[in-house]
Amino acid sequence: MTETISTLAQERQEHGAAIEGGQRTAVTVLGFGMMGAALATAFVSHGHPTTVWNRSAGKTDGLVARGARLARTVAEAVAASELIVVCVSTYEVVRELLDPLGDALADRTLVNLTTGTPQQARELAAWAAERRVDNLDGAIMAIPSGIDQPDTILLYSGHAATFQSHRSMLELLGGGTTYLGADAGLATLYDMALLSTMYALYGGFLHALALVGTAAVDGATFVPYADRILKEVVSISWRPGRRDGRSRSRTPSKRRSARPKPTRPRLRHRRDRSPPDPPVRSACASERSPPSSPEDRPIARSLRSS
Ligand SMILES: NC(=O)c1ccc[n+]([C@@H]2O[C@H](COP(=O)([O-])OP(=O)(O)OC[C@H]3O[C@@H](n4cnc5c(N)ncnc54)[C@H](OP(=O)(O)O)[C@@H]3O)[C@@H](O)[C@H]2O)c1
Repeated sequence: MTETISTLAQERQEHGAAIEGGQRTAVTVLGFGMMGAALATAFVSHGHPTTVWNRSAGKTDGLVARGARLARTVAEAVAASELIVVCVSTYEVVRELLDPLGDALADRTLVNLTTGTPQQARELAAWAAERRVDNLDGAIMAIPSGIDQPDTILLYSGHAATFQSHRSMLELLGGGTTYLGADAGLATLYDMALLSTMYALYGGFLHALALVGTAAVDGATFVPYADRILKEVVSISWRPGRRDGRSRSRTPSKRRSARPKPTRPRLRHRRDRSPPDPPVRSACASERSPPSSPEDRPIARSLRSS
């Protein structure tokens, strides 16, 4: 088994080198909803022979007119390419589609970009390993219009060699393509963590807008203040070197001193629409040592710099 995996990995690396040399790679995209369509469109736009399959007919017509090949069945779609990308509504659907295929996926690469839980991702990885399928699990940190854009983050976990072999193809989907590690559940775990951050921030921000709205303060006036607080949230609540990142060692009085300094954005004349002064860095930000693993990962760097 080890030998098979290393042979496959070597073939994949050679394949990756061929892509670098300008050769085209056949790819199949299963699922042509909003996201699947964006993924398939990116591959077609970059000139790769792309086979598409979707449960409902008709959605793929536009891309087929641009050169994609339509497969009538999942089995036909899988047979068309060594690299299979699946993006459907749930993991249950992924399994519904792939379970009946038997060995048809053996020695192929399955990149799952369907949203789910870490446990579902790990179960799919185990399912794939039993069938000699190279598996990567991914999470798309964008909406469909973000696909094929330089700053778009897509996170992957699973076999490192598989990621490396298909890296050039995967990077077509977003310039922020990042490999997180061998645990197949990592990408969905980051997805859940990032989405929970995002939804909490959305909720807090919309609530704040509603609050200031009660005094007829418009968003443009309020946003610079919120922007400053949002930037401070991470630097106040995250400390390197702690497993959970939280700064529990600080006493309440130290916590108070780490709050944004009381140089609040000055209230300006109504006609002065320029944003307030840039945020003052918090005390803890200046104490940080250089980042180390896992904080040194590209996702962490990219999120901190954004
Ligand atoms: N849209 C986003 O902004 C976004 C961002 C990040 C991640 N994602 C993830 O990407 C995945 C797809 O999202 P989407 O926006 O493309 O959703 P969508 O537009 O609702 O498309 C869902 C896809 O799943 C297929 N499907 C659903 N049930 C099926 C079944 N029983 N058998 C076969 N196919 C089935 C649909 O086929 P039909 O066309 O036949 O219905 C369609 O291709 C989701 O897991 C989502 O969380 C989406």
